[in-house]
Amino acid sequence: MEKVNFGVTKRGEEASLYVLENKNNTTIKVTDYGATLVSLLFADKAGVQKDLVLGYDNVTGYEEHTSYFGAIIGRNGNRIKDSRFTINGKEYRIDENENHNNLHSGKNGFNTVIWEVREHTDNSITFYHYSSETEQKFPGNMEITVTYTIADDDTLHIVYNGKADADTVMNCTNHSYFNLDGEESDSVLDQIVWIDADAYTPADSGLIPTGEIRSVEGTPLDFRTPTAIGARINEAHESLQAGKGYDLNYVMKDEGAYTLCASMYSKESGIRMEVRTDAPGMQFYTSNFLEEKGGKNGREYGVRSAACFEAHYFPDATHHENFKSTIVKAGDIYHLKAGYKFSVEK
Ligand code: GLA
Repeated sequence: MEKVNFGVTKRGEEASLYVLENKNNTTIKVTDYGATLVSLLFADKAGVQKDLVLGYDNVTGYEEHTSYFGAIIGRNGNRIKDSRFTINGKEYRIDENENHNNLHSGKNGFNTVIWEVREHTDNSITFYHYSSETEQKFPGNMEITVTYTIADDDTLHIVYNGKADADTVMNCTNHSYFNLDGEESDSVLDQIVWIDADAYTPADSGLIPTGEIRSVEGTPLDFRTPTAIGARINEAHESLQAGKGYDLNYVMKDEGAYTLCASMYSKESGIRMEVRTDAPGMQFYTSNFLEEKGGKNGREYGVRSAACFEAHYFPDATHHENFKSTIVKAGDIYHLKAGYKFSVEK
């Protein structure tokens, strides 16, 4: 494993970039700032290594932009309506950072702190963070580890383990933006997606779920047959209109089992990505609001130039009895896994 300087944060902390590789030279680069996946290098059908995730060249880029590129999101990924929730009869208020709602835990999210490196090998690294009860104003002090492993079958596994000293919300995710033609490509609209979900959680115009679980049948949200992202993205469906493209939570079939649930494929590069998770839900987001200058090598990243497959519990689960609870009891273990496996078709 190689460790290189990744710049200094505004708070004066030194950030590092860790370079990990498997036996095929598939490489991941992760920084301790936000426990963020910065690069994922994988060879395309011509044998040229492509960087398949959007990002920045140093920590300053991650601090200055708000798209959560590659970061670990927590304590709660996705939205909490009205930025408040009740646990054991007590109401907690957290940051309002999207309309009146909380998105991705607000300004002191896990994506904004330097994590400690606990363990590493040549192809695996474990980050640790102690999240105090004052950090984001969720109840209790929480300890969390995230392990990234680039396995020899070219799967990137991301494994989360958390524990707190009070009943609290735990619902992390990784927010990587993938483009299988490389981060320099302008569009993912021709890339072909499969999502093994019969249902999704419809949401209001602020992307807060209504509580309903609805079938994808007959809608442009149905990816049970592999379809290009761009084929139906502009159709007049309320979900596509609210999100300005795909930005919705799919209901996973095999919750609790670490099974295949989605894939993306590019004919141009020949690269295929297979997604697996044991999470109950997955937000599929096609970077519909993206407008970032100053990306890697000065790149500008625009709308629909990447896709996110965010494995997590359902959005706003704290307000819906019928959604699997994101509340973890004091002393209990929170555990979640997501995997992204890369292969190439020549
Ligand atoms: C998630 C949300 C999107 C957007 C991105 C971050 O995927 O669902 O609406 O906020 O995060 O830009």
